[in-house]
Amino acid sequence: MDLLVVGGGGREHAIIKKLKENPVVETIYALPGNGGIAADAVCVPEIGATEIGAIVDFAVSHAVGFAVVAPDDPLALGCVDALHAAGIPCFGPDARAARIESSKVFAKDLMKKYHIPTAQYEVFDTSAAALAYLKTASFPIVIKADGLAAGKGVVVAQTKEEALEALNQIMGGVFGAAGSRVVIEEFLVGEEVSLLAFCDGKTALPLPSAQDHKAVFDGDTGPNTGGMGAYSPAPIVPDAELEKMADIAIRPILAEMARQGHPFTGILYAGLMMTKDGPKVLEYNVRFGDPECEPLLMRLESDLLEIMDACIDGRLDEVKLSIRPESALGVVIAAEGYPGSYPKGMEIKGIDAVDALPDTKVFQAGTK
Ligand code: AMP
Ligand code: GLY
Repeated sequence: MDLLVVGGGGREHAIIKKLKENPVVETIYALPGNGGIAADAVCVPEIGATEIGAIVDFAVSHAVGFAVVAPDDPLALGCVDALHAAGIPCFGPDARAARIESSKVFAKDLMKKYHIPTAQYEVFDTSAAALAYLKTASFPIVIKADGLAAGKGVVVAQTKEEALEALNQIMGGVFGAAGSRVVIEEFLVGEEVSLLAFCDGKTALPLPSAQDHKAVFDGDTGPNTGGMGAYSPAPIVPDAELEKMADIAIRPILAEMARQGHPFTGILYAGLMMTKDGPKVLEYNVRFGDPECEPLLMRLESDLLEIMDACIDGRLDEVKLSIRPESALGVVIAAEGYPGSYPKGMEIKGIDAVDALPDTKVFQAGTK
């Protein structure tokens, strides 16, 4: 069977390497893929991850038997809906269910309805009302654009001045329609953990905990990046706590989405803050996190294609995840200067030697 994976980062590279372990898999097409993925899949750089029409045409003309949509943007744009409509089995939530990530207001309202612990919040759809609220607020405070903003829509404002600047930016149009509403919420203190679960609309199977580190320098210092590395498990949420965490943060969402007639299929990811008052949900994502995906899939012993297939068929209650007991650690190596401006086009040497080490794999992002 031929497969198609939408996306082109380290996460997609890890998914493709893992899918290839299944003997029924013949060719995997990556749209668009990247230079590293090209060693494991047929990349189609002409088709970007948000070109839904071209993705569906490609899937149909190449008779792919199964598709995985990994990044947030195509999920929010309805890539899964379009592939399903064309008769292609596809792992990932439809656009309705993807609102859990693509609208912070939608997610906060779900959490409120089910008493899922989260930061206190208010929603504003005019900057005048948000400004009036900030005049009496205490700081730090957190300001979030409602919609997807390429990971830049959340500002932790230490002072009123920073909050006003963030509000002006978000509601002033830098993120387009994504910033037409904002959530202003309580600042939470604690250690962050990522809890990801496979979901088939009714059943959730949690993966072990993971933690990503976004700041560019050692010791969690410097500007935030797309992630400098991740490991699993995160000691603050040991395996023995996973079921309890899934009951708090994942299963009520699954139940409500099913009740609304938009059952959630795919990976539901709860970003948790472990506060002194217990876990609180910071956000939901509707996909594998990057870079959490890489160490998590290194620990997954079960066949990924079979699990994804069970999610689509609503058979997850028959599946048990087999997880390697060893920890996994992913370290991102980036060009000097990242995430600011940095040189491009340098050759990376030694990848094969590293890949040949036992228990070590190289996943590539942004390479040619
Ligand atoms: P989000 O996209 O909502 O996860 O926000 C991105 C990052 O902002 C999180 O990973 C946290 O580091 C931080 N953050 C978000 N909400 C809060 C909050 N209520 N209190 C403290 N930090 C937050
Ligand atoms: N690692 C966080 C994310 O993928 O959103």
